Amino acid sequence: MPLQQQLFGQLPSGTAVHLLTLTNSHGVTVQLMNYGAAIVAIHTPDRDGRMADITLGFDSLSGYLDPERNSYFGCVVGRYANRIAGGQFVLNGVTYQLAVNEGGINHLHGGQRGFDKVLWDYAVAEADGAASVAFSYLSPDGEEHYPGNLRVDVTYTLTDTNALRIYYRARSDKDTILNLTNHTYFNLSGAETILDHELLINADAFTPVNSARIPTGEVRPVEGTPFDFRRPTPIGARIHQPDEQLQHGHGYDHNFVINGTPGTLRLAAIVHEPSSGRILEVHTTEPGLQLYSGNFLRGALGRAGRRYGRHSGFCLETQHFPDSPHHPHFPSVVLKAGELFESRTEFIFGVQHAHHG
Ligand code: BGC
Repeated sequence: MPLQQQLFGQLPSGTAVHLLTLTNSHGVTVQLMNYGAAIVAIHTPDRDGRMADITLGFDSLSGYLDPERNSYFGCVVGRYANRIAGGQFVLNGVTYQLAVNEGGINHLHGGQRGFDKVLWDYAVAEADGAASVAFSYLSPDGEEHYPGNLRVDVTYTLTDTNALRIYYRARSDKDTILNLTNHTYFNLSGAETILDHELLINADAFTPVNSARIPTGEVRPVEGTPFDFRRPTPIGARIHQPDEQLQHGHGYDHNFVINGTPGTLRLAAIVHEPSSGRILEVHTTEPGLQLYSGNFLRGALGRAGRRYGRHSGFCLETQHFPDSPHHPHFPSVVLKAGELFESRTEFIFGVQHAHHG
């Protein structure tokens, strides 16, 4: 049975939240819920075929509803993933003031009640052995002070080639801005930290930030910096170097400029975890990739009694660049009235077998 639905919990209003489980022919499973259109768990085999969850999350809905424990685990982030300085932007000569929900200075991840904190509609479908869930949400004009009635569709499909495809579409009836991502935290071994995971990022440049983690506007070559992941390098290998950018991020919390042409699906990153052999590949049509090394996780009690401390998971958030409205040379985040926004990201799960001899 490739698709299962069950009750996951109830919102304080009494509304039911459902857990949807996609399974492919290799036994890989992806669990989703309609609260936040979120990924709740992903089970993949290690090199010996042992299945385990490779995400951070909670056993029950209450964990997701608790702001002290839930740092955007698995959710769709919108309307604007990452930060907008001062929560302000100008569009067609009109100034919009969004919530400054990060320390009273930045707009972060869509505001007080972003797409992670709303209930999405959903429909399930199966085609050619691949099971999918299509989430949709109608964000009313003025919600979180963004302009335009915005309809968003996010479809997750699990293929028999062990790919989880995420297809985002959106349309607004007024010009607006939009930047969508998925905020899953991964840990491919279940170890206490992800610092031993070997990471490759297909990026020759990244966008440095100031101490408030707002891009300065510079596009800096990664060459000769701790941000050079063009060859596989453990995430922890350089994370404690006395580097100003690592200090601003309290670790990695930076946007990389993915090589190749935005709009075409191309490699963004490959993660290899040596002890389990698990591999995660990320492909996207987006121009940017946020590497977040879980710097602000503070030991919340997570799934199966695990504590999610600092660096217990990493996120690879495919996106447009943070604070783009203030940097005209960054790829535009403006969505014109009536135009179709489309974006694709794929997470591909694999294993690397140990070399002998
Ligand atoms: C941001 C971090 C933030 C985290 C919240 C990431 O996308 O880049 O700065 O703390 O989300 O969980």
